[in-house]
Amino acid sequence: MSNQLLKGKKGIIFGALDENSIAWKVAERCYEEGAQFILTNAPIALRMGGIQQLAERTGAELFPCDVTVEDDMNALIDKAIELYGKVDFILHSVGMSLNIRKKKPYTGLNYDFMHKTLDISAISLHRLLQTCYAKDAIREWGSVVCLTYIAAQRVFPDYSEMAESKALLESITRSFGYHYGMFRKVRVNSISQSPTMTTAGSGVGGFDAFLDFAEKMSPLGNADALSCADYCVTMFSDLTRMVTMQNLYHDGGYSNMGVSEIVMSKFGDPNS
Ligand SMILES: NC(=O)c1ccc[n+]([C@@H]2O[C@H](COP(=O)([O-])OP(=O)(O)OC[C@H]3O[C@@H](n4cnc5c(N)ncnc54)[C@H](O)[C@@H]3O)[C@@H](O)[C@H]2O)c1
Repeated sequence: MSNQLLKGKKGIIFGALDENSIAWKVAERCYEEGAQFILTNAPIALRMGGIQQLAERTGAELFPCDVTVEDDMNALIDKAIELYGKVDFILHSVGMSLNIRKKKPYTGLNYDFMHKTLDISAISLHRLLQTCYAKDAIREWGSVVCLTYIAAQRVFPDYSEMAESKALLESITRSFGYHYGMFRKVRVNSISQSPTMTTAGSGVGGFDAFLDFAEKMSPLGNADALSCADYCVTMFSDLTRMVTMQNLYHDGGYSNMGVSEIVMSKFGDPNS
């Protein structure tokens, strides 16, 4: 269904890796809503192929950018300026934990890995915003969205160092949201998404059981990637102009739950 909510808008979408990626669905929905955009990912991810087809289908430009490399970020934003003058929206959908990938426990982290994790998953948002700010690359009332997870606020043991990454990401969202709001009325928000079966998501230990738990805790069930994409579209549209510096829960109600009857029922008969 298209309402042309993003007609004429130009953007940059980070993080579409395969068809399960949240960014992949965001790209498809932004295209349906009339936007034009650059799809970007780390050079190695671009070589994997799938994203080329997504670019063809959505009429997008493909441009490589490792978010930890300043020259890459500069080149990407220069490309966006060359194509569009300025952009209206940016999706930061990037995350990776080296310690989780190397199966290091939280109580035995490798700090070189941790630095890299923070750089990829959180500091990259600052690098992106600072580069755009310096080049004045985002149009007035533009919208930047990044994706986060409730482990920034609560303990989820298997989420490990990604909890610190998300806490930092949300802090950068608020802090740069202030500066970019004052500078060009640009809004910056994080969307705190339900657990979702993607490459990044499934890297977290015990993910299947965890997905099931969250589903049973949430009155609306888990929000899937497509509904997250719909939410991103509204955040990029002109209908949410006064929302900034917020962490927006998109989780079927999970974040306000203590416990649900379905979960309680696993621990004995609630009527006995
Ligand atoms: N899947 C979930 O359960 C879930 C829940 C809440 C939030 N999120 C967040 O959503 C975002 C997108 O993740 P996803 O679940 O769609 O998984 P995904 O694995 O499809 O996306 C992660 C992306 O980050 C990219 N990336 C990694 N290192 C990079 C680098 N150095 N430079 C540029 N790009 C790099 C990957 O190539 C990939 O495209 C992440 O921030 C993730 O933490 C995911």
